[in-house]
Amino acid sequence: MSDSPSSDSSETEEVHAPKRTATEAGREASKRRTFAVISHPDAGKSTLTEALSLHAHAISEAGAIHGKAGRRGTVSDWMDMEKARGISISSSALQFPYGDAIFNLVDTPGHADFSEDTYRVLSAVDSAVMLIDAAKGLEPQTMKLFDVCKARGLPIITVINKWDRPGLDPLALMDEIRKRTGLIPTPLTWPVGVAGDFRGVLDRRTGGFIRFTRTAGGAKLAPEEYLQPEAALALEDVAWSSAAEEHDLLTLEDALHDQQTFLAGRTTPVLFAAAVLNFGVGQLLDVLHDLAPSPTSRPDSAGSARDIDGAFSAQVFKVQAGMDTSHRDRLAFARVCSGVFVRGEVITHEPSGRGFATKYVHTVFGRQRETVDVAYPGDVIGLVNASALRAGDTLYAGKKVQFPPLPLFAPEHFAVMRAKDPSRYKQFRKGVEQLDQEGVVQILRSDLRGDQAPILAAVGPMQFEVATHRLEHEFATPVHLDFLEYNIARRTTAADAPELAAKRDVEVLQRTDGVYLALFKGPWHLKRIEQDLPNAMLEPLVAGTD
Ligand code: G4P
Repeated sequence: MSDSPSSDSSETEEVHAPKRTATEAGREASKRRTFAVISHPDAGKSTLTEALSLHAHAISEAGAIHGKAGRRGTVSDWMDMEKARGISISSSALQFPYGDAIFNLVDTPGHADFSEDTYRVLSAVDSAVMLIDAAKGLEPQTMKLFDVCKARGLPIITVINKWDRPGLDPLALMDEIRKRTGLIPTPLTWPVGVAGDFRGVLDRRTGGFIRFTRTAGGAKLAPEEYLQPEAALALEDVAWSSAAEEHDLLTLEDALHDQQTFLAGRTTPVLFAAAVLNFGVGQLLDVLHDLAPSPTSRPDSAGSARDIDGAFSAQVFKVQAGMDTSHRDRLAFARVCSGVFVRGEVITHEPSGRGFATKYVHTVFGRQRETVDVAYPGDVIGLVNASALRAGDTLYAGKKVQFPPLPLFAPEHFAVMRAKDPSRYKQFRKGVEQLDQEGVVQILRSDLRGDQAPILAAVGPMQFEVATHRLEHEFATPVHLDFLEYNIARRTTAADAPELAAKRDVEVLQRTDGVYLALFKGPWHLKRIEQDLPNAMLEPLVAGTD
């Protein structure tokens, strides 16, 4: 495996990194807070990301990271399709200091469409910030994300956003979270003023009032004033007393933060915010600093922990090609799991056993790329032109380690792909294999459909567009897609496959990893087949994963 030079001249410098010690890894790891912001589209993820970095002084003005088309400073223009739609489909990380901590905010795809990348990012973080729109409550993708976090035991901090707009009753929102996710909400702040009339929050840990003041356009840090309860009552009257009553009610119900149950993924601290006005953003940063977990030793695939203080190891969670059309590069994003990464040192690519020179390593966020010289557990590094790296691969130095593979997720969209020009079959096959290995889409095959017409399976339809674009531009093979009506996949066995496949409106295919998937056109179809064939194995792909 080799990495090839990039046009960035800063990367050609010699690396003279000092020798790093093992204890440094543990010490630096304890400063890290590696998290992702996740939400249903439009809940305000991009806005909050900008607000967080604004508060942390990583950027001087909101709007410089990424956002939607037309918004000031939109920078997600790596691929033409991103440019056309003003969306971001890459994953990367923004690192910034906050107090004595270092925050790694791992970005998730910013598009309305969901993709497997959104889920994969969750394997690279130690906690998640779940954003909920105050007017909409829990939306379908919020639920899916909750499920994946739960399956991974990931601690969640919940932020109720857009409190400056009319929305649901806060107690009703807490009830909804408790009932639908099984997580017990333990609000740390409570809104003063109903949704649409956001005056500030009651800080449930001190009982005081954090008063917000609007700034023009929300582009600057919103001033916050701290008031004692008496002063808050004098100022806000009914709004304050009803917040205080609700706070007492929550205390009676035992809705109080408990660090252990939070870390175990059983309770979720809740904050109220208006990201667009920068309200509540400072509190979120403080909560991440004070409560979010730092990286800890990760278990390898045999179940024993790779000591965080040990030799360097990392796991690739995403491979992104075509981020920069000017030098068609390919970045593999890896999370450092243990030890110290020093640019220039040779590390081993576990699946191939081959050495890998790490001369070209970046951090990437939006358009900004910076060369990384040293990285610690919890940090995300982007390895340039690492053509043999796949999502899930382990990289290590010293004693060999292999981390468990990343889970494949339950697909809900299916399409048959064919080369427009059958004479380009060889390139088509190569391209499909490549996309499969990278995890761009899942590839399903059956004897019936043959190799020339595989089925692409995806969590979100955006993945199809990426696949089509890649085949056309990298493999010079234009393709067409026939979208299929299936929207549910169930795991089955080779033995049950023939009987299931004989049923109307059911198709059974085999995924590259050998798993048999039966596809159905909806819950009613599935129910009918379950009744007809009660002994057939039709296992749900649990919690968004299999
Ligand atoms: P997403 O990344 O989760 O998809 O959401 P995004 O931040 O793009 O926000 C979606 C819309 O919600 C944006 O409005 C944004 O300004 C708005 N928004 C985000 N946070 C808040 C908030 O706290 N209060 C209010 N009132 N609105 C909020 P848009 O009209 O789609 O875009 P724009 O023209 O405002 O940029």
